[in-house]
Formats: sequence, structure tokens, C-alpha cells
Amino acid sequence: MIIAPDLASAESAVRSMLEGAQFGAAGSRVVIEECLQGREASVHALLDGHSALLLPLAQDHKRLLDGNEGPNTGGMGTVSPPAVPVGADFARTVEEQVLQPFVRGAQADGLDFRGLLFPGLMLTAQGPRVLEFNARFGDPETQVLLPRLRSDLLDLLEAAIDGRLSEMQPVWDERAAVCVILASEGYPDKPITGRPIEISPALTGERDLHLFHGGTRRDEAGRLLTSGGRVLGVTALGATVAEARTRAYAAADLIRFEGLQRRSDVGAA
Ligand code: GLY
Repeated sequence: MIIAPDLASAESAVRSMLEGAQFGAAGSRVVIEECLQGREASVHALLDGHSALLLPLAQDHKRLLDGNEGPNTGGMGTVSPPAVPVGADFARTVEEQVLQPFVRGAQADGLDFRGLLFPGLMLTAQGPRVLEFNARFGDPETQVLLPRLRSDLLDLLEAAIDGRLSEMQPVWDERAAVCVILASEGYPDKPITGRPIEISPALTGERDLHLFHGGTRRDEAGRLLTSGGRVLGVTALGATVAEARTRAYAAADLIRFEGLQRRSDVGAA
């Protein structure tokens, strides 16, 4: 995917695909969409065939580098709730403009969709616009949503299967969560793996701090090594986004491996 900020770069991208075969046969068919400007927001909702239960909002940081520069990644960090508030009407707008039309459309197509729907939104000046629908939890959105969930996830998933979501009132931690991804050198193009990871013992026993292993393995000697692009997600809870952010980065500072890449502006307003 190429994000073209103006007509000239859009034309040049299309020429390089159709005439220059930039992406080989995969680039022989081109889809052109409106370039949406705004902040991204990740909505997660459980659906049970007729009703939707909205989970708290999260915000991903998709580009590799600070200030949303560099190549697109699977996500370099998340914050929930988003550092910049979305407004009191947001949940209702998403219900009315995204989730209910999805449920109606699925029913009209004879699709009994039950499970997790994750629409990626762009918050534009004209209101929320859907970029994509995923039928799965987001990564690393889940790393900030589940630490805030005080109810049992399994009860919610079973209610989605059984069509009982309208009876459910999950309890969410009021505190904020920030997840900072620690990625390998070369990610996202060609991650270099097999590097030893050092995690300071000072992190052991730290409350409301989670280390999610995304790309790690142990060697025969039991040493922890990097084994993928996104290696670890460091999630901390805090009374405010700023406090969660400070705690997540303080913990991330205590983890080392050669070539580690991370953004320094996850959760910054
Ligand atoms: N973090 C974006 C995704 O899971 O698709």
C-alpha cells in the first residue's frame, strides 16, 4: 500500500506499479482510495448476531519511527484510552455509523457473525471513517485492552457465542494502559533474530506491568533470544496516560538486546 499525499505522487505510484512492475504481478491490479487525514483509532467490539458490545477504544502507532515517520508496521505501540480524547459522542457514533450497519449488512447477507470485530478507523474532520474490518483482536491493541479488563474474558466470549451479550456488563479498569513494542533491528523489512535479550531483575514483581512475548525463544542453554520482528510488548497501567507512559518507558529501559528499535512517542498527546 502506498499513501500518496498529492496527485503527483499518486500518479507516480500508479505508473511504477502498472508500467514499472514495482510489485510484479501483484501490482497489475490497482485500487485507488481517498487519502484520509486524521488520527487512527482501533475499535474492538464483540458481536453476538444481533447486538454489539463495545470495548474501550485504543490507539495504535503504526509507523516505525517517531512522529509517524518511516515504514508501516504491524504496530509499534498502543494506548488505551487514546491520549487525545475522542469526545463524549464517540461510542454512540461508532455504534450507529459502523457497528449497527455491519450487523444489518451481515444479517442481510445471511452471515451469522459472532465474535470479535475490529474496525480500524480514521478520525477525520468529517467524522470517523472505516479503513478496514478485522475479525480478530488487534496486536498490540490487545496488550492494552486485556490488562484493563477486570471481568472474565471467557464469560464475554461465551456470551457472544450464545447471543447473550446484552446481559453482559464487563468491568473495566479506569486506569490507562500504554504498550511499547521492542522490535528487532531490520524490522519490518528483514528482522535480524537470534540476539540475546537481557531483562533486568528489577522488573520482577513490579505491579501492573506486563511483558508480552511476541518474538522470543529459548535456546538449549535456556537463554532468551529474539526470534521475530516485534519481540516484546511492555505494557504498564497508570492513573493517567502520562503516568502509564512513564512507567512503560521506565520498564522498557530495563530491557536490552542488540539493535533494539522502539518509538519514544507512544501515548504522547
Ligand atoms: N495493530 C493493528 C492490527 O492488529 O491489525
